[in-house]
Amino acid sequence: MEPAGSNSPFSEEERRRIRESWVLLVPLADLFALTLYRRLFEAAPHLRNRFHTDLGTQSRGVFEAFAGAVAALADWNRIRPALAALGRRQAYAGVMEEDLAFLRIALHRTFEDLLGPSYGSGERVAWDRFFQVVSEEMLSGLRSVESETKDCDTTRFFRDRGANPP
Ligand code: HEM
Repeated sequence: MEPAGSNSPFSEEERRRIRESWVLLVPLADLFALTLYRRLFEAAPHLRNRFHTDLGTQSRGVFEAFAGAVAALADWNRIRPALAALGRRQAYAGVMEEDLAFLRIALHRTFEDLLGPSYGSGERVAWDRFFQVVSEEMLSGLRSVESETKDCDTTRFFRDRGANPP
């Protein structure tokens, strides 16, 4: 078995800062989720119509995905396949690579709202790295769906079945 931290993309300092703020956020899970979506739609109102499920349930999903990633900070290989799979599901939900930039802004604003002075420059740098690394893992899945479906000719698909394309 590899020693803790040996496959981690995060430094010890980053792991410590992320865990310390996560401990403060756990009791605020619902507020975190709702604030994150409020901040996301503020930064990118056009994303609102991508969501079809109830936002309360939906936003808890992001929190839980982050919780899994925070728990795996020191043993990152454990979470990589789950994040790639999540990225594939995002692609089917119509999420695009550029949408992540809005979530990144929303995430920092959410931390500022909820953590106040406990969200200093060290925390900001650590969480930014966390988001970049999580995004990269998800993008590997998202891009694989994009490349699988790019040659899919929907016009021919519908024509061959005697239907008109939508
Ligand atoms: C680090 C980034 C993200 C994480 C961790 C994340 C997490 C999740 C989770 C856990 C779900 C629940 C369904 C499932 O397990 O497949 C989900 C669904 C979804 N996510 Fe994300 N997400 C991220 C980024 C984004 C971004 C940037 C958008 C922008 C539009 C987005 C839009 C959606 C949509 C539309 C759904 C489907 C829900 C529905 O149909 O209402 N996600 N996401």
